[in-house]
Amino acid sequence: MSNKSLISITDFTKDEYLKIMRLAEDFEANPNQNLLHGKVIATLFFEPSTRTRLSFETAINRLGGKIIGFSDSSSSSVSKGETLHDTIRMVSNYADMIIMRHPMEGSARYASEVSSVPVINAGDGANQHPSQTLLDMYSIIKTQGSLDNINLFLVGDLKYGRTVHSLLMAMLQFENPIFNFIAPPELSMPNEYKIYLTSKGIRYFEHLEFTDIINAADIIYMTRVQKERFIDPVEYEKVKNIYILRNEMLKNTKENMKILHPLPRINEIHTDVDSNPKAYYFTQAKNGVFTRMAIISHLLNLK
Ligand code: CP
Repeated sequence: MSNKSLISITDFTKDEYLKIMRLAEDFEANPNQNLLHGKVIATLFFEPSTRTRLSFETAINRLGGKIIGFSDSSSSSVSKGETLHDTIRMVSNYADMIIMRHPMEGSARYASEVSSVPVINAGDGANQHPSQTLLDMYSIIKTQGSLDNINLFLVGDLKYGRTVHSLLMAMLQFENPIFNFIAPPELSMPNEYKIYLTSKGIRYFEHLEFTDIINAADIIYMTRVQKERFIDPVEYEKVKNIYILRNEMLKNTKENMKILHPLPRINEIHTDVDSNPKAYYFTQAKNGVFTRMAIISHLLNLK
C-alpha cells in the first residue's frame, strides 16, 4: 500500500491535480464502488467540522470502507493529556489512513512524520486545507471548463483563511491566473504569498472594495472572517461585517461567473443570492464527496 500523505496542496504535482479531477468525475458518475473493502480509515477532528468530516465519511462509506475516530477530542484520551505524537502512533496501529483536523499549524505534517499510514490534512490552523482546494478546483473546472485563464476574486479573511492560501498555491500551476485580493488591511493576504507571486511573475491586485470591479470575475471566492483565529475579540468586531455579497451586485457579472465559498457562511453572502444560478457553494460542498473519494483512492493506490 502507498504511504503518501496529503499535507499541503504543494505535495501534489499538476499531473496529480488533473488525475484527481478525472477520478472525481468518474466517482460522480458512479458514486458507489467497493474499493475500500476491508480497510479502516480514522477521522480525528480536534476542531469542529460539518462538511469536511461528513463528506470524508460519506466518501469512505461509498467506497465500502469502515470508519473509526472522534469528532470531539474531549471524548478521547487527549483530555487526559495524551500527546499528539502518542495519539497518532496509536491510531496508525488501528487504521489504514488517518484524516486529521487540528488547530495547530504544522500539526498535520508532524502527524505524517510519526504515522505509519498516510495522513490527510483536513485543516491545520490557518495554514492549509488541501482537500478543500481540490474540491474547489473540481468546482472551477466543472463550471469554467478549465483551470487556465481564471480571474479569481478572493474576498474576506485572506489572512487566516487557510482555504485561500491553498487555492492560490494550486492555481499557480495553471496558465495565466489573475488574482484579485479583496480584504481590509487587517485581513490582507500574508506577505509571503504576495512575494511568492511576484517572484513567479504572476499578476495580483489588492482592493478594499469590489463592487466596481466585480464584472471581471470568473470566480468569486467568498470567505468567512475566522473568529476563532482572533486573539482580540474587539478586532474581530471591527471586521466581522466587512463584506456582504448581495444579489443586486451580481446583475452585470459574467454569464458563467460562479460564486464559491468553503462554508460555513455567517453573513458574507446574503441569503438572497442563494437562488441565483451563479451561487454554486452548495454544489461545491457536494463536489467534496467525489473529490475526497478521488483523493483517498489516489493516496491508497486503490484499483
Ligand atoms: N469547508 C469546511 O472546511 O467546512 P467545515 O469546517 O464544516 O468542515
